Amino acid sequence: MTKFPKDFLWGGATAAHQVEGGFNEGGKGLSVSDVYTFDNSLPKEKWTDQWHLMTHAQVEEARNPDSKKYYPKRYGNDFYHHYKEDIALFAEMGFKCYRTSIAWTRIFPNGDESTPNEAGLAFYDKIFDELLKYGIEPVVSLSHYEMPLHLATEYGGWPNRQLIDFYVKFATTVFERYKDKVKFWLTFNEINCVKHHPYVSIGVIEENHPNIEQAKYQGAHHQFIASALATKACHQIIPNSKVGCMISYQLLIPYSCNPDDVQKTVESQRSSLFFSDVQARGYYPAYTKRMFEEKGVVLETEVGDEEILRQYPVDFISFSYYMSSAISAHPENLENAEGNLITGGIKNPYLPSSEWGWQIDPKGLRIALNQLYDRYQKPLFIAENGLGAVDKIEEDGTIQDDYRIDYLRQHIEQMQEAIHDGVDLFGYTSWGCIDIVSASTSQMSKRYGYIYVDQDDEGNGTKERRKKKSFDWYKNVIATNGEAL
Ligand code: BG6
Repeated sequence: MTKFPKDFLWGGATAAHQVEGGFNEGGKGLSVSDVYTFDNSLPKEKWTDQWHLMTHAQVEEARNPDSKKYYPKRYGNDFYHHYKEDIALFAEMGFKCYRTSIAWTRIFPNGDESTPNEAGLAFYDKIFDELLKYGIEPVVSLSHYEMPLHLATEYGGWPNRQLIDFYVKFATTVFERYKDKVKFWLTFNEINCVKHHPYVSIGVIEENHPNIEQAKYQGAHHQFIASALATKACHQIIPNSKVGCMISYQLLIPYSCNPDDVQKTVESQRSSLFFSDVQARGYYPAYTKRMFEEKGVVLETEVGDEEILRQYPVDFISFSYYMSSAISAHPENLENAEGNLITGGIKNPYLPSSEWGWQIDPKGLRIALNQLYDRYQKPLFIAENGLGAVDKIEEDGTIQDDYRIDYLRQHIEQMQEAIHDGVDLFGYTSWGCIDIVSASTSQMSKRYGYIYVDQDDEGNGTKERRKKKSFDWYKNVIATNGEAL
């Protein structure tokens, strides 16, 4: 079996709003994620409702300083105050890289200021210096579900073309500041998820938009232009930099060999890969015309947009992979797959599911890697992968998370198969390497980490960090460059 490349980037991933906390420190402004609440009194199936459909009333309540609700993404796991300890643990595992995001609202609290916030810039200097001290390469997302709330409420989010300038200013500011510290950049986290949660992706509240599809794709168009201009600036400011797109990848499989299911799968896959098609190839694919016609989307563009997209495609493709999904042309009679973000897919009877209903398909990762490499012929980076699970502390204080080890082992085996197939895969950051607040449910108890954080869904706990069994396992995986699984 082919080995992992010698300089393979093993590591872990998080995002600012899910780890940092310190929401009212260092001059930080509120982001769109800071308004998500967690309410244990609601039934479990309601916990993702606001993630998929945010309302004005919810945003207004969250902005009211007298709100009594708990907003977990303002507190994360308190990385803001624990970063030295956390990075030391990452170093102990032997991380070669660490993926996180820069909270835009630490640098430009409202998004439209003319000068950046020095305290915010200084905070990420400390983070990157600490990583580099251990030889850990930072991989940085510019926007991971945390645009300034002000840009959503006062400008209507990304459908407004002014957002391009605000984003490019933010990007250029951090490229200039960290040009000697950060080489790998991702422009927008899971850019294709605007289809499912337009509020957190592009700052759009559906109530405002009679044709929400128009708003989503207009917002995406502006993000494509912003991403291309950021790629241009990054290459100019940091000549050896590499810029990636980042998509959520769910392998889509026809539920049956019925030609209708097969056709539906092709359409679903295109609607998801549309985003990386534009960012990697630098133009709108031929199928866009019909897709837009059927959705009633008419893009407003400017002269020069096509040229910008064409000139500055991304250097590599990064993606998250958690599950696969079966697609049916007639899903109404079949059992739905819970937690399925991309497609509203059908439960695949051949696959087990996580406690949150995400269908576990390690072999799907090999297929995903091959599909992406066949499609783009650009280097690939797995920016997220992992198992969200409830962990239990045993009487002796240990956490025996063999289920997580099994999940990760099986996925890493399939990465190795894909490399053997000829895929150019240069890195892997498993998701939530330390326990963090869940993006979709805002829970703390949906844990992904090698490192346990003593904190519950309401934010109670000592925040003490504790190694799980998977900590030593992953350390050994890295030490043997993927040979000891
Ligand atoms: C991805 C996001 O969708 O999945 C992360 O980029 C997120 O922010 C991860 O945390 C896992 O999802 P969840 O809902 O389990 O946190």
